[in-house]
Amino acid sequence: MSEALFDRIARLYDYEQKEFVKDIPFYVEYAKKCGGEVLELGCGTGRVLIPIAREGIRVTGLDASEEMLNIAHKKVSADESISNNVTLLRGDMKDFSLGKKFALIYIAFRSFQCLLTKIDQIACLLCIHDHLINDGRCIIDLFAPRHDYLAKDKLALDLGTFYDEENDTIIARRSEVHYDLIKQTLHEDRFYESKDKDGNCHHRVWSYDISYLFRYEAELLFEKSGFRVEDLFGDFDSSSYNYVSGEQIFVLRKS
Ligand SMILES: C[S@@+](CC[C@H](N)C(=O)[O-])C[C@H]1O[C@@H](n2cnc3c(N)ncnc32)[C@H](O)[C@@H]1O
Repeated sequence: MSEALFDRIARLYDYEQKEFVKDIPFYVEYAKKCGGEVLELGCGTGRVLIPIAREGIRVTGLDASEEMLNIAHKKVSADESISNNVTLLRGDMKDFSLGKKFALIYIAFRSFQCLLTKIDQIACLLCIHDHLINDGRCIIDLFAPRHDYLAKDKLALDLGTFYDEENDTIIARRSEVHYDLIKQTLHEDRFYESKDKDGNCHHRVWSYDISYLFRYEAELLFEKSGFRVEDLFGDFDSSSYNYVSGEQIFVLRKS
């Protein structure tokens, strides 16, 4: 596999997302409720997968980025209590065959939206369908697109700062977001700016595209791929979905 999108920012990922923990208890509770083996697609550095393994649940993580997986591997090997419960695999969420089935398959933090076309999204859903036990659950978290944001030409956002522990520096982040209304994609240029101890400025840009999906479009895709929607939440406290809820968290069962 060639360089994956997240390889370039993998080193910073856990520092950058340190504060984002609100989804973890949600996935842990579902993993306990499903009562069997769990698969995370796009598991990254193990941010969600490791807390699930700490509950004594067997969990497999699949990700396209070797650099993200290396970090997950380090964290898992450093914790003896979970190393036997975790399997990490490099692979593509739209084309995988693991030869086993799971009670819960989830895609956290909008990673499904890295798939830009309906063909890729359906391919991924069919793979999930093949790997899910009959009464298993699939959870997919998408951001909820808003027409007022889509209508803007470009959004410039100040994303605040985070601490890069390895280099003992503060990194400031800002981003420029542009929606492609024809392809239904969001393009983000994310700027990372810092100053080292000698006063030298460092600047890097990470750019990516993700797709965005409206509620009924997503539901149709799921139905076409053999799922029914058991629940739709607007946030990880299980509150209902609405126009400003920010998230669309779909809980799917095989139909
Ligand atoms: C936003 S990160 C989320 C990581 C992790 N799930 C979390 O919640 O912190 C997206 C992850 O999806 C992975 N990813 C993107 N496209 C993928 C694909 N086609 N197959 C497997 N992993 C993919 C990226 O490498 C990255 O690690």
